[in-house]
Amino acid sequence: MPKYKIAYSITSEGLRMKISGRKNAVITGAGSGLGRALAIALARRGWKILAADIDKPEADVTLEMVKQAGGLGEAMHCDVTKIADVQKMADYCFDQWGGVDLLVNNAGVAAGGLTGDIPVEDWHWIVNVNFWGMVYGCHALIPKMKAAGGGYIVNVASAAGFTSLPEMASYNATKAAIISLSETLKSELAPYNIGITVVCPTFFNTNILQDMRCTNDFQRRFAKAAFENAWITSEKIAKMIIKAIEKNRLYVIPQLSGKLIWIIKRISPSLFYSFMALLMRVGIARKLLLLMARLGMT
Ligand SMILES: NC(=O)c1ccc[n+]([C@@H]2O[C@H](COP(=O)([O-])OP(=O)(O)OC[C@H]3O[C@@H](n4cnc5c(N)ncnc54)[C@H](O)[C@@H]3O)[C@@H](O)[C@H]2O)c1
Repeated sequence: MPKYKIAYSITSEGLRMKISGRKNAVITGAGSGLGRALAIALARRGWKILAADIDKPEADVTLEMVKQAGGLGEAMHCDVTKIADVQKMADYCFDQWGGVDLLVNNAGVAAGGLTGDIPVEDWHWIVNVNFWGMVYGCHALIPKMKAAGGGYIVNVASAAGFTSLPEMASYNATKAAIISLSETLKSELAPYNIGITVVCPTFFNTNILQDMRCTNDFQRRFAKAAFENAWITSEKIAKMIIKAIEKNRLYVIPQLSGKLIWIIKRISPSLFYSFMALLMRVGIARKLLLLMARLGMT
């Protein structure tokens, strides 16, 4: 018998999830950045953490931090681009831990590039991690959560999925797909007591730039400036995600810049993109984006 109990209540804001007793969370890409911050924040609140990452030694480091924070857990090698790895992770948690209350599909990679310049193999690389990795997580865990009577899924997308800035097409497209997947799951999973949150941050400083693939120097300089001047941390975003889980909120858009573009796009999507197109045509888009990144406005 699982040592935890999930209780759901319907409030004016929708379904709310309350878990008492032991709570199990699986976090992909937990060896760094946001995944690690979330693992530690959840451990402090009594969650048991499966820290999964393609980089097992870094997942081990996260596990040590989880233990230092007073939590329990395990570290596991899992390459989210491989369905066999993801299925094995899901089976392990249900067989050995008695279930998964929370799946965080967080593992992701970044890329800049102009469409046509981005090598096809780089498209496959980013789609495999950012899109298929999250689809595999949902595919492996959703049937088990349904059978268990409930659970929660957090998909870490990005504001890139709706801002669609130039020179980031491959990254934008994968994140837009994850926003759409999450919106679909909101209604699909409602009858099964499975909540869903999609996280859409703009830039915050992590290790993601280390493996970022770019097609020109501007893209790297822009990303680096945005990272160095970001005012929000992984820890702060982790707290926002936990609050969203508790309130069963669909969207987490942590930064003001993301919130503003979200609103502007809803008021007039074509105006927003016509403005971006104008900036590109007159040749000032790069200068403006770089300036905004240096001012911490991205
Ligand atoms: N940092 C940002 O500015 C930013 C902004 C918006 C969204 N995000 C998203 O946040 C998520 C976390 O990224 P981060 O910024 O913490 O980056 P990070 O590089 O610090 O952490 C990502 C982790 O994912 C792991 N990973 C990469 N490929 C993997 C694979 N195939 N299988 C399993 N693990 C894999 C890496 O080893 C790493 O530990 C990503 O989905 C990213 O797209 C980041």
